[in-house]
Amino acid sequence: MRVGVLTGGGDCPGLNPAIRGLVMRGLDHGFEFVGLELGWKGLVEELVTPLDLHRVDEIIRQGGTILGSSRTNPFKAGDNEAVPACLRTWRRLELDALVALGGEDTLGVAHKFHQRHGLSVVGVPKTMDNDLNATDYTFGFDTAAAVAMEAADRLVDTAKSHRRVVVLEVMGRHAGWVALYAGIAAGADWICLPEVPFDFDEMVTVLRRKFDRGRQWALVVASEGAEIHATDTGDVKVDNFGHAVLAERKVGEFLEQEIKKALNIEARHVVLGHVQRGGPPSLFDRVLGTRVGIKAADLVRDAQFGKMAALRGTEVVAVDLAEALGELKTVPPELWRELVAVINK
Ligand code: F6P
Repeated sequence: MRVGVLTGGGDCPGLNPAIRGLVMRGLDHGFEFVGLELGWKGLVEELVTPLDLHRVDEIIRQGGTILGSSRTNPFKAGDNEAVPACLRTWRRLELDALVALGGEDTLGVAHKFHQRHGLSVVGVPKTMDNDLNATDYTFGFDTAAAVAMEAADRLVDTAKSHRRVVVLEVMGRHAGWVALYAGIAAGADWICLPEVPFDFDEMVTVLRRKFDRGRQWALVVASEGAEIHATDTGDVKVDNFGHAVLAERKVGEFLEQEIKKALNIEARHVVLGHVQRGGPPSLFDRVLGTRVGIKAADLVRDAQFGKMAALRGTEVVAVDLAEALGELKTVPPELWRELVAVINK
């Protein structure tokens, strides 16, 4: 059986362990793998690379993806060439199946190829945003949130020395998982999420209370997609899947300015950006990546196409790709209500 493999969308730590798990298990099933470079672009343009034991043997500790990635969307409105090109590549390469490792966008394309064109596709969920439905966690999130926590810890050291407020802006799109987990773990004094309506007065009241009782510095962690309408001005750049480029909202910069004015205190902001997506995967992401990769190989063997390997509790199970798509997994209000007790004091 010839199995194509691609990684699409924003990269994240854990992709290489997942590719390794998939290939190593697939070899047990007698599969031959074909690596497709740069996500769906690899299928459109037939960008092929060998993918064998030698290639994956030593990649468990490597960040990024050995296959490369892109946000190419063959189903992008107005492009009538890309889908037929993908189908031609599939035939030319004599693929029997394809495993797509990605988030909502990449898996959405996989689902369309399965539904509309009958391709034998299996999905592996990844995203540092942790916003994919039907799986409890996606690999990439644990590493990214830990990097954000470490950055916050470092910023607190310097904020303390200079008696400043420091605002850390983190990624996460329309889900606040990275901001919430990193903020809680770093003891943030306020956290701004996309899921929680932003109340500037409430934030200032909490910060002022802390200063009034003797604190001389503060840490605010803000998600790039935080629900702060004042930052939603002007034309928004969108990617190939129609998603707004949220870093352009400059949430961190806005908060720095407003906090300075309201509290009459020195403030700085830091945009952590792609630092969160690089570096070696954490222990959790290495093991989760490995497990979902192994499961994907088993799904191909069992002809369970249109499915995705998902973490449910401690088990890795098969779920319909459709279940993972459509709605994002965002921070539930009850989790925020539980954790706000350690923020608003
Ligand atoms: O979806 C992953 C993610 O890192 C988001 O958190 C972020 O908004 C986006 O990708 C950034 O994309 P790019 O790498 O294209 O700048």
